Amino acid sequence: MTEQALPFGEKYYPAIKKLMEIRRRSLEDPISFWDEKARELIWFRYWDKVLDDSNPPFFKWFVGGVTNITVNALDKWMKTDVKNKVAYYWEGEPGDRRVISYADLYREVNRMAKVLREDLGVKPDDRVVIYMPMIPELPVALLATARIGGIHSVVFSGFSPKALADRIVDAKAKVLITADGYYRRGKVINLKRNADEGVRIAAEQGVEVEKVLVVRRGGLDLDVEMKEGRDFFYDELAKKIPDNVYVPPEPRKSEDVLFILYSSGTTGKPKGIMHSVGGYMVWVYWSFKWTWDPRPDDIMWTLADIGWITGHTYIVYAPLMHGMTNVMYEGAPDYPAPDRVWEMVERYRVTIFYTSPTAIRLFRKYGDEWVKKHDLSSIRLLGSVGEPINPDVWKWYYEVIGRGETPIVDTWWQTETGAAMIAPAPGIALVPLKPGSATFPLPGVDADVFNDRGEPAKPGEKGYIVIKKPWPGMLIGLWGDPQRYIRTYWQRFSKPDQGVWIYYPADYAVKDEDGYFWLLGRADEVLNVAGHRLGTTEIEDAILHHPAVAEAAVVGIPDPVKGEVPLAVVVLREGYRPSRELEEEIKKVVREVLSPIAVPARVLFVNKLPKTRSGKIMRRLIKAVATGAPLGDVSTLEDEASVEEIKRAWEEFKRAIEESERILRGEA
Ligand code: WT7
Repeated sequence: MTEQALPFGEKYYPAIKKLMEIRRRSLEDPISFWDEKARELIWFRYWDKVLDDSNPPFFKWFVGGVTNITVNALDKWMKTDVKNKVAYYWEGEPGDRRVISYADLYREVNRMAKVLREDLGVKPDDRVVIYMPMIPELPVALLATARIGGIHSVVFSGFSPKALADRIVDAKAKVLITADGYYRRGKVINLKRNADEGVRIAAEQGVEVEKVLVVRRGGLDLDVEMKEGRDFFYDELAKKIPDNVYVPPEPRKSEDVLFILYSSGTTGKPKGIMHSVGGYMVWVYWSFKWTWDPRPDDIMWTLADIGWITGHTYIVYAPLMHGMTNVMYEGAPDYPAPDRVWEMVERYRVTIFYTSPTAIRLFRKYGDEWVKKHDLSSIRLLGSVGEPINPDVWKWYYEVIGRGETPIVDTWWQTETGAAMIAPAPGIALVPLKPGSATFPLPGVDADVFNDRGEPAKPGEKGYIVIKKPWPGMLIGLWGDPQRYIRTYWQRFSKPDQGVWIYYPADYAVKDEDGYFWLLGRADEVLNVAGHRLGTTEIEDAILHHPAVAEAAVVGIPDPVKGEVPLAVVVLREGYRPSRELEEEIKKVVREVLSPIAVPARVLFVNKLPKTRSGKIMRRLIKAVATGAPLGDVSTLEDEASVEEIKRAWEEFKRAIEESERILRGEA
């Protein structure tokens, strides 16, 4: 925490003052601040009220306002030079390329909107599940859905059929947009097969998808099964529609739902995080402007998948609202060689490069020579998101990728927050950076660090990050579960009887003596694997699909590249014996039921899990044993167990783990 500020030069120091001045104004009078900011966007009707806080924590922004985000992302450019500017430089993994201008994108969005509305019968507020690879039709699908007032729910293409089915069922979706397949590490993945399986499982659970739209990924010519009357190839429907088709943007109320995006929570069931039309639009527009200081000749590459919020906000909505040129890539970042990304940065002259610490650690592992082969001098800003960035990784990013000149924009935020909340803001003033700190909250973000008792933590004292005021980009609830919304985000520190509402992100944080924020990772039972959120219970539920498993506990253990990886401890049913084969089978089940990202690094077998008297698994104990760390202070471990009991459980568990390792090595 005593990391020295990097000497970007004295001239940057007044930046802190400038930033604080704007923040002060935004927090003292948020209503007039946001009233003014929201007017930079196009609305069909302005709002009657900037913020309706009469029913907290269900805050409503720009109430009475009517708009459609696609007007701000597309229509508004059609009378300007941006029309002929590149929106996406797309590149497939095998090296095939497409260049899509804003005019092209506009045409395609209108065309797909027409198909969705007329051929597939999508009406306003219908949920459209999008399960697609990183091909240009993916952003088109989001925008086309938004244009006709549908609610999109994107499911990452790497998710299993079961995970897809869960999301279809929860949202009661009647339309699915998918693709025949895509390339990953040189292999063709048949996505339609997974989609079919997902649709089948959903039907078993009572939710019938009525129509499936299948985009053919160019050049793939994959033979897929099509169900008569349900499945339609997009190109076959699209070719009947004239090039100049215009689908009027559906007028949407500001508080309407723009999209749902599922994310893992502390229970097995993923949460359907909802974002609003108006609030999300205004917030991501401004957050983007402050964090990236967009310029007309910028080429932005956000190396993420549109299946996650990073892609929604930083590959689709925000950059398009700013008329930016983006790079979009289908495949693995290190395929066919570790310099794939740097080769592309050089070729497209990328100016803003934004990715996760996991990706940066992977590039670093491959060695500097892969980077040095390329001219990366076009880059003017580097971004990081998804996990805490270790100072040494920060420095490598800064020195090797950024030539020791490029600021690192470390952006802390969540699916729930819509866009960056705490981040250096070169679009306002670039404050001196400290490696590993996301610096200061953006305007409109009333962030603080609280201790256990809900008091502001002292400088240097570890606590929990909190947001003390509503902001336009906040989630508006969880789909179908208002109680869970209140419980998860507002229960911890709010004082409803005093009218105090505090948003709880469930991250540890520290504010240092200079007021810089350091985000330290999850404070709940959620893992962050390679920048992706995974609930421990969710993985445990997946493991329980294996017939041999009686009980499972999952904890996160440190990993040099992925940050954290799951480790599973399993109790077997009567009649099963631990073995390497069983370990592999269990991993396979997790891959199939959930996702490859969730596969445990190790599966260990024990006869009994360490639990409290009420049956709560002692995860900290498991974690300590698994990582060989000391147990630490046990007084706060589990309230109901005595220190003696915990120590005994720890010894017992340690022996069991050692035994498990011996068996798996074939020594017992
Ligand atoms: C969680 C949110 C934000 C889009 C991608 C992940 C962690 C995110 C940072 C950062 C430290 C970070 C937090 C947060 N996180 N950015 N810059 N420094 N931690 O979105 O899946 O909703 O995960 O990612 O733990 O709560 P997500």
